[in-house]
Amino acid sequence: MSPPRSLLITGASSGLGAGLARDYAAPGMRLTLVARNAERLEATAAACRAAGAEVVTGLFDVGKAEPLGAWLVAQDGIAPFDLVIAAAGVSAGASAEGAMEGRQLATLQVRSNLLGTLHTIEPLLPALSRRAGAQIAVVSSVAALRGLPYSPGYSASKAGIRAYGEALRALLGPAGVAVSVVVPGFFDTPMTDRWKGPTPFLMSLETMVRAIRRGLDRRRARITVPRLLAVGSQAADLLPAAIGDRIMRGFRFHIEPGR
Ligand SMILES: NC(=O)c1ccc[n+]([C@@H]2O[C@H](COP(=O)([O-])OP(=O)(O)OC[C@H]3O[C@@H](n4cnc5c(N)ncnc54)[C@H](OP(=O)(O)O)[C@@H]3O)[C@@H](O)[C@H]2O)c1
Repeated sequence: MSPPRSLLITGASSGLGAGLARDYAAPGMRLTLVARNAERLEATAAACRAAGAEVVTGLFDVGKAEPLGAWLVAQDGIAPFDLVIAAAGVSAGASAEGAMEGRQLATLQVRSNLLGTLHTIEPLLPALSRRAGAQIAVVSSVAALRGLPYSPGYSASKAGIRAYGEALRALLGPAGVAVSVVVPGFFDTPMTDRWKGPTPFLMSLETMVRAIRRGLDRRRARITVPRLLAVGSQAADLLPAAIGDRIMRGFRFHIEPGR
């Protein structure tokens, strides 16, 4: 399979999306980068252009289906995407005082994370599903494997992304379109800076980007990094619910408001 030449990455103004964009940036690459913050997205774009890539940026809220969808279809018409990475995401949870996240924050996460992933991929599916060799990556989380008690909205959004990715993978496999479900543990980004609590097996952003890139290069169905944290979450899920819940409750954290 020839390496991708036209990439779409959402959430490219920070953290994982920005790290992947910089990692893929090279002469002959066209990167279509999406996020809301103009200054930060431009910083990623400038670094990618300096590495020789052609870069197109789109300032969109992925939580809103349009005008994002029409713009993506137009960009796909100009340079058909051979790799789409839906990495945009937000996190929230209990406050330092223990207040629950509440309806607004819970729905914001489902809208930005789960619906944002659908809003990115669905408009492109009619074309992508006929493009043998194309690849899609959705970014879930270990929080999808066993819901985190202090972050229910995030857990729900990431579990939804995981199920969506698995469904697409089975559906599109026969057409030669690979779907990778990325299940990361903790890695060092502005999102993790707002997480106040234990961060077992925390990895650097660079290590996470390298691991995900390796998995994408091999068109892996699941890219779970680090595996040990995922095994721990799955083990908690296999235990009787009351015991699993007690273990998960002991994993105390709160999340500071976003920027
Ligand atoms: N960090 C971790 O430990 C960790 C662990 C597991 C999974 N993940 C997942 O990995 C992904 C990247 O996280 P990160 O740690 O790199 O976070 P980050 O540094 O906060 O970056 C998040 C990115 O998503 C974009 N974004 C958020 N909401 C958006 C919206 N509504 N529309 C468009 N863009 C939006 C942000 O851009 P703008 O603000 O400019 O819009 C930013 O580029 C997320 O899906 C996250 O849930 C992270």
